[in-house]
Amino acid sequence: MIPHKIGVFDSGAGGISVLKSLIHSRNFKQIVYYGDTARVPYGVRSAETIVQYSLEALEFFKSFNLDLLVVACNTVSAYGLKAMQEVAPYPIVGVIEPGVLALKNKIPNKDSKILILGTKATIQSKLYSKLLAKEGYHNTFGLATSLFVPIVEEGIFSGEILNATIKHYFALYPHTPEAIILGCTHFPLIADSISQCYNNQPLLIHSGEAIMEYLQNSYTLKTFDDFPEVTFYASDCVEKLEQIAKLWLTK
Ligand code: DGL
Repeated sequence: MIPHKIGVFDSGAGGISVLKSLIHSRNFKQIVYYGDTARVPYGVRSAETIVQYSLEALEFFKSFNLDLLVVACNTVSAYGLKAMQEVAPYPIVGVIEPGVLALKNKIPNKDSKILILGTKATIQSKLYSKLLAKEGYHNTFGLATSLFVPIVEEGIFSGEILNATIKHYFALYPHTPEAIILGCTHFPLIADSISQCYNNQPLLIHSGEAIMEYLQNSYTLKTFDDFPEVTFYASDCVEKLEQIAKLWLTK
């Protein structure tokens, strides 16, 4: 099956950072984006609630006849993915396994220091570190950097407030990592500030790039002449989501 029509699910607007990579690949004809903006953030919620919200998102996609669904949200990928895969009639791909594979392809040294950034829920799940341990990486450290989410939502991508927040969190990890996993949809938007904190030395793993690499390796994809038609849906204020999309997709 060659996937032409795909869905992208995120807890809110953050998944637009992943959508950007999917659009630029020109591997899809149609993309339906759904953000659960009425209930974002998921990253502070319990596992049960995240699973329930993830299954409810499938209800939303029911009428779209998708070929494939991309779960752009790291938090949903950590908790809801399995439950979704069990009931959906089409394949569903999350961002965590692709992120780990992307790192494995780029960082062969298993002694490398890997810093994993994510929401509280993603870090508590330990899924990144478990999958990395399976691949032999033993020097991993998970850091919940929840405040990055509202800062990015506020349209702050650099400057004093962000730098102070980065400093606050990174004080807990007094090393220079070889790689940083940007394990949250919002973090690619502040990648420059994160990287500058370590003199631009670490390799950054971006969920959007990782999932495109994964899809290109796992499926036969067509390359279209035009960018896909993208339709946005949200559980609240779709206009706000569209505004954010305009800003982030051109950033
Ligand atoms: N989309 C979420 C993630 O990638 C971040 C926002 C939230 O907490 O819902 O983990």
